[in-house]
Amino acid sequence: MAGERLVVGLVGAGTMGAGIAQLALQAGHEVLLNDVDEAAIARGRDRIATGLDRLVAKGRMDADAAGAALVERLRDAHGLDTLAAEADIVIEAALEDLELKRTIFRALDSAAPANTMLASNTSALSITEIAAATARPERVLGLHFFNPAPVMALVEVVQGEQTSGATMQAGLDFAHGLGKTAVGCRDAPGFIVNRVNRPFTLEALRMVDLGESTIEAIDAAVEAAGYPMGPFRLMDLVGIDVNLAVARSLYEAFDHAPRFRPSARQEELVEAGTLGRKSGSGFYRYGEDGTGLGTADRSAAGAEPSGEPLAGPEIVSRIELAIINEAYHAVGDGVCSPEDADIALRLGAAHPYGPFERAGQLGLRNVVDGLERLAAGGEVDSRERFAAAPALWSIATF
Ligand code: 3HC
Repeated sequence: MAGERLVVGLVGAGTMGAGIAQLALQAGHEVLLNDVDEAAIARGRDRIATGLDRLVAKGRMDADAAGAALVERLRDAHGLDTLAAEADIVIEAALEDLELKRTIFRALDSAAPANTMLASNTSALSITEIAAATARPERVLGLHFFNPAPVMALVEVVQGEQTSGATMQAGLDFAHGLGKTAVGCRDAPGFIVNRVNRPFTLEALRMVDLGESTIEAIDAAVEAAGYPMGPFRLMDLVGIDVNLAVARSLYEAFDHAPRFRPSARQEELVEAGTLGRKSGSGFYRYGEDGTGLGTADRSAAGAEPSGEPLAGPEIVSRIELAIINEAYHAVGDGVCSPEDADIALRLGAAHPYGPFERAGQLGLRNVVDGLERLAAGGEVDSRERFAAAPALWSIATF
């Protein structure tokens, strides 16, 4: 599949769907773009055009080539049946709702030739459960891109229980052809990045919920430590609703383990329609064009800290230790290798180092001691939240 010009069907023309469509056009493929109605497809077209304009403005793409891509290789697809009949590969990037995705896959399966690959860009739903809605589970896989898709270098290629080796290889080749680094991973909750990086946002939310710090102080501390965006700016970029949906699926998948418990603040914001950049307001406020106005939205930011606020290094250390611990949980559960976890966090979340690299810098004994200090922190569930992963415990105390 590498190097061939393919017809790529995109189901969903939102931020992720449009970003993936843009990548496919840049790689020389044809794209069929589908969404719920013409207006949604038109908005997707605008997003793609804006993305290509960005490249032209930077001199990375010729203006004529961008124009030709939009006119000659991007087509609207008004029905799933026509899209499926023509595409070589279909990528679904619809809402994070299992029943909706299964309905889409059922429709695609009944219209697509037997050999067509069907992929989902789901953030955390089970590929196996999505594939079970089709008669071709061996040709169904996850192709998980990161926001903003045109920029983030990683694609997780997810193997459902019945995904064939040939389909995995074709998925890896397809992602490489888009210029991405691809890591294969098991169909485990949150795959690699959305699981291992969960504490990045959850621990930050808890610090605010517990009155230990403010959103600005946490973002500033994390950014000063070399991360491109603090947790709150990141949630605003990705969408507070999308972040919450991932948090909820992991909480369910791990039988309500306290370390995955979503934050009530996040639930309230989503209920109020405060979703981040896309709704004009999240933890921060945004202008019409989505640019940050630089000020926190006080209704989302919560109260000022009640006691002595956490110092910057304490904030960063708590988040990093929790991420390292989750990485050991994931590797211990057979989700991925330590090397792939490092690649995934560096490229899928733009971290300055992977969790295992960071653990090596800190020293495993210090990691375990740090987790023990946090576990003894006295909050209701700190013991469970910071209990060292079995794999970490056994290596560090060997
Ligand atoms: N679309 C396309 N390109 C974009 C973009 C967008 N929305 N936002 C920024 N860019 C481009 C810029 O044009 C610039 O390109 P250049 O280097 O070629 O000139 C480059 O990205 C860097 O942008 P900026 O200089 O404007 O800003 P930053 O240096 O702050 O980078 C960022 C922006 C790339 C978003 C960076 O802050 C970052 O990497 N943040 C972390 C993002 C992250 O963690 N994403 C993963 C989220 S989790 C996820 O998506 C999984 C899902 O399942 C929930």
